[in-house]
Amino acid sequence: MSKHSPGKLLALAAALATSLLAACGDDSTAGRSDVPDAALVAQGKEIFRNDTFGDESQWTDALRMHEVISAAVDPVTALSVGLKVDSEALPAEVVQGIQDGSISLTSPATTVALLKLNAVVGVRGTVENISGKDTLTRVGITCALCHSTVDDSFAPGIGKRLDGWPNRSLNPGAIIALSPALTADQKAVYNSWGPGMYDPRFNFDGVNGPQVISPAYGLEGIHRITATGDGEDIAYWNRYVGVTQMGGHGSFIEPRTGVSVVNGSDDLISSKLPALQAYQLTLEAPPPPPGSFDAAAAMRGKALFDGVARCASCHSGPEFTDANLRLHSPDEVASEPEPNGVPSYASRSATKMYRTAPLKGVWQHPPYFHNGSAATLDEVVQAYNTRHALGLGADEMADLVQYLKSL
Ligand code: HEC
Ligand code: HEC
Repeated sequence: MSKHSPGKLLALAAALATSLLAACGDDSTAGRSDVPDAALVAQGKEIFRNDTFGDESQWTDALRMHEVISAAVDPVTALSVGLKVDSEALPAEVVQGIQDGSISLTSPATTVALLKLNAVVGVRGTVENISGKDTLTRVGITCALCHSTVDDSFAPGIGKRLDGWPNRSLNPGAIIALSPALTADQKAVYNSWGPGMYDPRFNFDGVNGPQVISPAYGLEGIHRITATGDGEDIAYWNRYVGVTQMGGHGSFIEPRTGVSVVNGSDDLISSKLPALQAYQLTLEAPPPPPGSFDAAAAMRGKALFDGVARCASCHSGPEFTDANLRLHSPDEVASEPEPNGVPSYASRSATKMYRTAPLKGVWQHPPYFHNGSAATLDEVVQAYNTRHALGLGADEMADLVQYLKSL
C-alpha cells in the first residue's frame, strides 16, 4: 500500500466509482462525463452560437427573410420581437454611436450593420458590398436564437450572452410570419403563438399547440430529452431541430412519428452533433440570485416536497426528475388537458408520455409546464393542489413555492 502515490490512489478511487456507477445502470448520474474534452466543448460552443448547418436554404431561399429584414426590420423592431444583441461583438465606435444617438436604431440598415458584426444572437447574415452599399444577401439561424439570451447589461435586450437560457421574450412565430412566402392562414397560426412559444411539430401535423422554449442547461445525466422524453440523449433532439425546424442540411428519420426529412444532398449536421452535445452538457442551471427566496420558508417547503405533497415521488434525485426510470401518462400531469381544446402534446410525440421536468434553475424560466399553462410557480403549486387533491393550505403552498425558488 505504501508504494501507492496519492495520484494513483485517486485514479483507483475514480475507476472504482466509475464501475460502481456503471453497475447501477439507471442511476440518474450514469453517463456523467466529469472531464469534458475542452477542445470538443469549445468547438460545440462555436456551433451552438454560430452554425446554421446550411439552413439559409430555408430562411433565405424559401422564406426570403433577408428581404424582409433589409426592408423593414430596424433594431427597435428586432428588439421588440425579442431578438438580442451581443454587446461583446460591438466595437467601441458602435457602442459610442448607440449611446450618443448618431447610429439610428430605427433604420433597417443598422440591423444589417449589426448582422455584419455577428452581433444579433442566433441570426447569421452574409453581408456583401453591392454597388457600394452593404447588402444582406443570405440569412440563417442558429441554436442560440431560441436557447440564449443576454444579461441586459448594456441596455434592455443588449448585453453579454447567456447560453442555454431560453429566450422567453423571443416571438419566433411573429418573426416567421413576416415571411412573404407564407399564406394568410399560416401567418395567422404563427402570429397566435406569442413570446417564448414555438411549436416544433406544427409543420408535420398541422396542430397549433405551441410549447414553451426549453432551457438548454441542466441536462447532464438526464437521458430523456424534451418534455415528452423523445430522445435518450440531447443529440437526438439537436438533429431533429437542426434538420426539421431550422432547415439545416442533413437527415432526420423517426419511425415512431413517421417523420422523415432529408434536406440538401450534403450533411452539414451529423459530424457536429458530438461537439454540440458536449458543450450543452457543460451548461449548468443558474443558481437562484442571492436574497431571491426566504430560506426558512424554503426549508419548510422542502419537508412538504419530500413528504405530504408527494412531489419527490416523481421529482427525485439530484436533477429532481425520475426521467431515467419512467415517463408519465398525460392523466398524471397537472398541465393537461391542453388549453383551448388542443390535442395533448404527448399524443403528437414519439413516446405519447411526459417526462418529469428537471427543476434546477426553475426560478429562472416562467411560464411553466410544456404548454406554459402556469404563469408563475404559485400557479404551478395551485395546479398540483387541485389536480392531485393535496389539501395544502395557503401557507403550505407559499412555503413550497419558496422551496422551488431555491433550487
Ligand atoms: C425556433 C426556436 C428553437 C430553435 C432555433 C432551437 N430550439 Fe431547441 N427547443 C425549442 C422548443 C420549443 C423546445 C421544446 C420542445 C419539446 O419539449 O417538445 C426545444 C427543446 C430543446 C431541447 C430539450 C431540452 C430538454 O429539457 O430536454 C434541447 C436540448 C434543445 N432544444 C436544443 C437545441 C439545439 C442544440 C438547437 C440548435 C440545433 C435548438 N434547440 C434550436 C425551440 C428551439
Ligand atoms: C406524477 C409525477 C409528478 C408529481 C407527483 C409531481 N410532478 Fe411536477 N412535473 C411532472 C411532470 C411530468 C412535469 C412536466 C409536465 C409538463 O411539462 O407539462 C412536471 C412539471 C413540474 C414543474 C414545471 C417545470 C417547468 O420547467 O416548467 C414544476 C415547477 C413542478 N412540476 C413542481 C412539482 C411540485 C411542487 C410537485 C408537488 C406538489 C410536483 N411537481 C409533483 C411530474 C410530477
